[in-house]
Amino acid sequence: MNITLRQLKVFESVARHLSFTRAAEELYLTQPAVSMQIKQLEQQVGLPLFEQIGKRIFLTEAGGEVRRYAQRIAAELRELSDGLEALRGLNSGRLRLTVASTANYFATDLLATFTRRQPGITFQLEVTNREGLLRRIQDNEMDLAIMGEPPEGLDVAAETFMPNPLVVIAAPEHPLATGAQIPLERLQDELFVLREAGSGTRNTVERFLEQRGLRLHGGLEMSSNEAIKQSVQAGLGLGVVSIHTVALELELGRLCVLNVEGFPLERHWYLVHRSGKRLSPAAEAFRRFVVEEAHAHWHCAPTTQTTPPDFGPAGERSQGPTAGRQPPATASVQSPERPAALAASSELTATKRAAGLATTTT
Ligand code: PGA
Repeated sequence: MNITLRQLKVFESVARHLSFTRAAEELYLTQPAVSMQIKQLEQQVGLPLFEQIGKRIFLTEAGGEVRRYAQRIAAELRELSDGLEALRGLNSGRLRLTVASTANYFATDLLATFTRRQPGITFQLEVTNREGLLRRIQDNEMDLAIMGEPPEGLDVAAETFMPNPLVVIAAPEHPLATGAQIPLERLQDELFVLREAGSGTRNTVERFLEQRGLRLHGGLEMSSNEAIKQSVQAGLGLGVVSIHTVALELELGRLCVLNVEGFPLERHWYLVHRSGKRLSPAAEAFRRFVVEEAHAHWHCAPTTQTTPPDFGPAGERSQGPTAGRQPPATASVQSPERPAALAASSELTATKRAAGLATTTT
């Protein structure tokens, strides 16, 4: 069998997208060039790798087998490239960062500051929801991930670096906008604009309510925080989002945070990578940078945590959803200076003040 790396690369892209057109776009090739590579690969393998049913293509059993090896070979090549980068040092290098959709609100600030300090390093930033992140980690397709909670069942190293409070938002003219200590049960009477299934924000809220025997009425489902904010502003319902996503709207009075019993849900952001993964110098420098910025801003040392927060039954809670558990590595969010890199965090502090939220975490 005489298979080339190029054939495997083209095949992997077609198999991932299940589309010759999208693979051609991704690889900057023409569609006939993609078809030719696949045909030559099939000739070498001696079996069809794809089958067409109607307008859609599917992997054959042989295709599935080749895909598994193609992914492994691609991961080995990336490791080789990382190893060579390590030999070259920090003057060059590429960092593949995958962040949760919600983390994108501060990740770009982090990258901007880091790039000013390390101009030789370039980035590939991918933004996806929690489900997408889990796939990337599983397939070892990134150096570092920023996510709301370390994954269960995957062997990862995770360190927390910043609080991520989830709040209930409403249009300022909503009848509940002026309510104090709104009972949690009251939320069941309201229509909600929820994130899509697979979103970490949504999973957290549902788990929190389920543990109390409650459910939200999701009128609308949207895959972006921006769409949720617009819908809530338009009066289509209430929303639950990370406070990082609404700094501007709260500042401008376009949205408000409801004072609901049990909220904000105190989550935390984590830097995550596969355990045992040898981080490239670029990835290691970025990891250190985020942790040090967090340390400077939040006056705390990061810790590792591998289990997702369990909010426990309502009766167990005293000061917040994570009370009584191992406290995450955060302390006061009030900082006199505006740190360069965690600019979004300063906005967060201002936002929390504006929203009248507690400024310490449990
Ligand atoms: P998401 O955020 O809702 O954008 O997926 C990730 C998370 O909070 O876990």
